[in-house]
Amino acid sequence: MSYIKNIRTYDTDVVIVGGGIIGLCAALYLAKKGKSVILFEKYFCGTQEGSSAEHLRMWRTMYTEYNHAVLAYKAGDLFKEIEQESNKRLLHKKGLLNFGVETSYTPEGTLLTPLEVYDKLEKKYTILNKKTIEKKYPFKNLPEDYIGIFQEDNAVIDVRSTFDALIQLNKMYNVDIRENVNVEKIISDSNGVEIQLDKQTVTAKKAILATGPFSNSLLEKSFAFKLNFLIWEMCFSYYRITDNSLNFPMWFQFDKSHNNYSNLFYGFPNVSFGRKGFIRVAVDWASNTFTDPSVREYVPRQIDIKITQDYIRNHMRGLDAAPIDMGCALIAHLPDNHSVLDSMPNHVNYNRNIIICAAGWAYKFAPLFGKICSELAIENESSEKIEDFSINRKNVIIKCG
Ligand code: BEZ
Repeated sequence: MSYIKNIRTYDTDVVIVGGGIIGLCAALYLAKKGKSVILFEKYFCGTQEGSSAEHLRMWRTMYTEYNHAVLAYKAGDLFKEIEQESNKRLLHKKGLLNFGVETSYTPEGTLLTPLEVYDKLEKKYTILNKKTIEKKYPFKNLPEDYIGIFQEDNAVIDVRSTFDALIQLNKMYNVDIRENVNVEKIISDSNGVEIQLDKQTVTAKKAILATGPFSNSLLEKSFAFKLNFLIWEMCFSYYRITDNSLNFPMWFQFDKSHNNYSNLFYGFPNVSFGRKGFIRVAVDWASNTFTDPSVREYVPRQIDIKITQDYIRNHMRGLDAAPIDMGCALIAHLPDNHSVLDSMPNHVNYNRNIIICAAGWAYKFAPLFGKICSELAIENESSEKIEDFSINRKNVIIKCG
């Protein structure tokens, strides 16, 4: 830090590390509050390297946890504000059909527990049986005991338009976005934070780490701890629609694992920002898991695609089971599947100088999580209920050395 007549000056108010959706949202809300922000991104904003890869995400409110549904709805309102300010459409309301049987807790909660949540929120939904699911939607040969829940609020997120909108607004609010910059280490002390780059150090009052699956090398080098996550290289592919008269919904199937493979599948409707004439179907599982993102393979494993194709052949109508456009995204999973959204743990020097948001299925929450990061940076607290995302909860951090 430099000193001018005893007044400390910083290069910027807040440094953000990570130009994925969460980092860009955090930058935007800080800049809107008049804070100066430098955002460092290792690749480029909207890169295919991390958790924001590809074109589609679910804005899903069907949650087992009441508080998560509340937060998802609040995030939806913020998506709409971003739509208005950027004049870009981000959410395409298509509804969500969850169906299958009640299972033990999965990364997406369970099939039936969201009903109580929707009742509490006074949101309407429709319950279907096997026959009505198969009549209304392009599924076949479902087990007799399958139940469906359709809720109309849920939407498909246009990932690329969301990046365009956020980059546009960040530029409008003078966020200094610096791409292709690797942050080596962060130091937190009574003066604030020092961000060490390859050949330069940048000073700030606070830092926000929105580093997703790439968090651990920086955390380990800087603060001698890691997040206890396992990274899934999640694979997806697109399948040609052969019967255009069918109504492909946004959907999620819950069932118990079969032959030791996951029986959780999901799909998206045919949307103009996906692949024209194709829909995306995938298994909610990954055969390739690891803790160090540098060992990812990029190419989908055959088994992940095969079980998806088998599902399509056995249970879907109006689709050709030959995949096109296979791809992968990295998703970091903590043992309870939830995100971390908090300051650093207590053992870190001046722990409130640094905020982290990482892991979990967070895309749908992004504007709200970004806003909460900005509140934690400016005020050291948030008015939202974020205890579920505490860094101090059980099994979240591993101290190193
Ligand atoms: C989710 O909304 O959390 C989700 C949707 C599809 C696959 C995995 C997660």
